[in-house]
Amino acid sequence: MINVNTFKEYKGVKKLTQITAYDYSTARLVEEAGIDFILVGDSLGMVMLGYPSTLPVTMEDMIHHGAAVVRGARNTFVVVDMPFMSYQASDEDAVRNAGRLLKETGCQAVKLEGGAKYASRIKAITDAGIPVVGHVGLTPQSVNAFGGYKVQGKSYDAAKALIKDCLAVEEAGAFAVTLECVPADLAAEITKMLHISTIGIGASNVCDAQVLVEQDMLGYTADKTAKFVKKFANAHDMIVEAFKEYKSEVESGAFPAPEHTYKIDPEDLKNALKEIKESK
Ligand code: KIV
Repeated sequence: MINVNTFKEYKGVKKLTQITAYDYSTARLVEEAGIDFILVGDSLGMVMLGYPSTLPVTMEDMIHHGAAVVRGARNTFVVVDMPFMSYQASDEDAVRNAGRLLKETGCQAVKLEGGAKYASRIKAITDAGIPVVGHVGLTPQSVNAFGGYKVQGKSYDAAKALIKDCLAVEEAGAFAVTLECVPADLAAEITKMLHISTIGIGASNVCDAQVLVEQDMLGYTADKTAKFVKKFANAHDMIVEAFKEYKSEVESGAFPAPEHTYKIDPEDLKNALKEIKESK
C-alpha cells in the first residue's frame, strides 16, 4: 500500500493511478485491480445520490460512503473529500471535520478545494497530523462562482493565479494537488515547478498521477461526458442488457432454473400438508 512518502519517491519516476469509489463492492474491485489510491469524491452527490451538483453533500454522506470504501479496500490508500461548508468557514471547522473523516472512515488523507484562499485550512489540518490533497483549477464546489463547469487558467491572469494557488497549496503542506480542467502546457509547468505530486483530471498526461470518476470511465451513462473522460468500458449497455435479460427470463419462467432452487424431502412436505389440513 502506498503512503504519503510514495508520492515524493514516485514524482518524475512512476505515474500513480487514482479512481473514485463510493461503496464497499466497488472498492474491493479497485483494490483487486491494483489501482494505487482511491478518492471518495464528493462527486458522489451527483453520481450516487442524484443531486445536480456537489453542494448538498454532507459530512454524514462522506463518512457513510468513506467508511464503506475503507472496509472494501483495507490495503489501499484512501482519500476522502471534505464536502462543501465543512472547511470554508474557519480553520477550526476544517481541522474538526478533517479529523472526523479520518476517525470515522479510517481513510488516510482528506482533499479540499481551493488555492491560496484556503492555504491556512491546509496548514491547520496538516499541523494536526492529517495529510491533505489540494484541489485547484475547476473546483466544482465553486460552480456558482465560476458560472458553470469550465476549463480554468486559460488567460494570462488566470494562469498566473492558478500557479500561485498551486504554490500556496504546496507551501501550506499538502502532499499532492489535484488539477482539474487545466490546459496541458500549464499543467506541465506546474508539475515541473512543484515538489509535490500533481493529480490530473482534464489536465493531460504530464501530471504525476491521474484520477477519473468511476462512473465516467466505466461508461455508466449513454450521456455525453466531459472531453477529458475516456470510457474504458460500456457498463451502461452491459448492465441494461443484463436487467432486460433477467426480466425476460422471469417472464418466460426460464429463471429461476432448477439449479437456482432448494429442495425439500417430498415425504416431509406431504406430511406437513396433511397435518395442516387435519388441523383445520
Ligand atoms: O469529487 C470528485 O470526484 C473529485 C474528482 C473530480 C477529482 O474531486
